[in-house]
Amino acid sequence: MTTPPASTSDGATHDRPLAIGVLGSGKGSNLEAIFDAIAAGRLRARVVCVIADVALAYILERARAHGVPAFFLDAGPSKTRLDGDGERRYIETLRRHGAEVVALAGFMRIVKPALLAAYAGRIVNIHPSLLPAFPGLEAWKQALRSGAKTSGCTVHLVDSGTDTGPVLVQKTVPVLEGDTPETLHARIQVQEYIAYPEALNLLARRLRGA
Ligand code: GRF
Repeated sequence: MTTPPASTSDGATHDRPLAIGVLGSGKGSNLEAIFDAIAAGRLRARVVCVIADVALAYILERARAHGVPAFFLDAGPSKTRLDGDGERRYIETLRRHGAEVVALAGFMRIVKPALLAAYAGRIVNIHPSLLPAFPGLEAWKQALRSGAKTSGCTVHLVDSGTDTGPVLVQKTVPVLEGDTPETLHARIQVQEYIAYPEALNLLARRLRGA
């Protein structure tokens, strides 16, 4: 008897859960949203490892609380790039844990060619704006300063540019009168928590040819 493929509430059908390796630098609320989506059956996936370039990043605590292998790995001398020996360490750890895709969740470094080649078309990032508007740091502050009436978030495949690469999912939020950087970022993050699992389901379907 064959086991039918599992299906998730958004209709995604996969043979086996998508194995996700997560890279982060900070608080890891998007990682928590991914755990929540898996637990709720909205995302057929498992997080196989979490790697941070900051020793005390809270994202590592979240991973450990879920029993997921979590590592602080030295990313090398550059503060903004993952390259050289650091990049090799990251690739080796992702492969050792069987990651099929890499999800950047607040990872504050640009990924370079060796990782891009090791996971070609399989690295995703979440960015707090409607790309191509406001790439780079603190995109919600850029949106406020520009007077934009709308902002949001984007999950995209990663290429060699900064916050470029094909868009998988975008969600829009209004910019309200009286918004501060904090209130706008918080509103955007609520949408991030919906967008990231959706984008990972989409990627899983593409990779499985479903
Ligand atoms: C998010 O706003 C994401 O868009 C950006 O970094 C932030 C990460 O937040 N790339 P968290 O660490 O997932 O809470």
